[in-house]
Amino acid sequence: MKQLMLTSSLFVLICSSISAVSGGNVFCYFASWTTYRPGNGKFDVSNIDPSLCTHISFAFVGVGENATVRIIDPWESNEDYGPKGFEHLVGLKQQNPNLKVLLSMGGWNEGSSKFSQVARNPELRKRLALNVLAFLKQWKFDGFDLDWEYPGFRDGSNPAIDRDDYTALMSDLRDVLAPEGYILSGAVSGAINRIEISYDIPALNKLMDYINIMVYDFHGSFDPYVGHVSPLYASSLDSSHGDNVTYNVASGIQYWLDNGADPSKINLGIVTYGRSFTLADESKTELYAPIQGGGKEGPYTRQEGILGYNEICELHSDWTYVWDDEQKVPHRISGNQWVGYEDVRSITYKTDYAISKNLGGMMVWAFDNDDFRGICGDKYPLMNVLQKIR
Ligand SMILES: *[C@@H]1O[C@H](CO)[C@@H](O)[C@H](O)[C@H]1NC(C)=O
Ligand SMILES: *[C@@H]1O[C@H](CO)[C@@H](O)[C@H](O)[C@H]1NC(C)=O
Repeated sequence: MKQLMLTSSLFVLICSSISAVSGGNVFCYFASWTTYRPGNGKFDVSNIDPSLCTHISFAFVGVGENATVRIIDPWESNEDYGPKGFEHLVGLKQQNPNLKVLLSMGGWNEGSSKFSQVARNPELRKRLALNVLAFLKQWKFDGFDLDWEYPGFRDGSNPAIDRDDYTALMSDLRDVLAPEGYILSGAVSGAINRIEISYDIPALNKLMDYINIMVYDFHGSFDPYVGHVSPLYASSLDSSHGDNVTYNVASGIQYWLDNGADPSKINLGIVTYGRSFTLADESKTELYAPIQGGGKEGPYTRQEGILGYNEICELHSDWTYVWDDEQKVPHRISGNQWVGYEDVRSITYKTDYAISKNLGGMMVWAFDNDDFRGICGDKYPLMNVLQKIR
């Protein structure tokens, strides 16, 4: 009888965590290091409007020694003398009681090799899952978001076995987190030639509450030519450039759907930053035009090849605006500078696409490059568009 009750209460708990999966998600990432930006670029939890999101995830913690949860920057995360990111982010639930606050582990800078090592060792996998559970409890998070970029790719990864090991890691996380009602999600690639190597979609679909698909970073100054960071559809120019014809939102999402992902689990990812280029020849501005390198850095993001929407609207509204009607995305050009980005119009197309595919919702990276101060008009113009899916 005791066994039976335990089983049925587990059943209820698992169902309640599954019922967390419903349409209308706006899954937002908080990039904690933006607190170091200067001037109007400085962003912290107090700048978040918690009514804009159904879920907010803290980015990032890392993987520590012996499969522990590693706090990357204690000052911004948890020290008394800093902005106390964990505590304040979770505290946003007082303003929006329906909000779920998650913890993200990984990200681009964390690399692939530590995940690969933990995931291939059954003992370390279980230990990581238990350490994550304890960490979520300690800081009162509602769930965990794994952002391994990417299984089978980059230094120290293992293309032959990371795919199955990633599933095994998700499975161990689910075994530990789901019975206690915690949400489990992951940020995954939206590029078909990556997906095939990184993910066992039918298996992951059973384990994850949300599949946050990063259908962006398809092009950037890591390539030697111009391209948009996140086209919704292919350009006719893509068809003579191999797999580039699949480097767009619709192809990536459709691939996940066709290969076994439940639409209601998918959150379609958008970015609030643009990717910029310095053209090799000012007169050649079309897609695949040769570049010298990334575009000039902006005052807030301070990185060549990147410009936030806020930087573009505050500083570059005089650049020539071009709408690509095939890709359904804008770019701006000035002299030898070219930036592809998202605006209200392109995000409206993407949100409508997500609605037409009955997706669970939208994901956004991240608050801090939207016009969160309302310097160019209303506050949060980009994230406001996402609300139509709720
Ligand atoms: C690793 O963690 C486990 C469980 O938390 C602990 O028992 C073990 O002593 C640790 N090993 C090392 C080398 O720290
Ligand atoms: C994209 O196009 C470029 C330029 O033609 C080509 O070098 C590259 O291999 C293509 N990428 C893929 C993934 O096919």
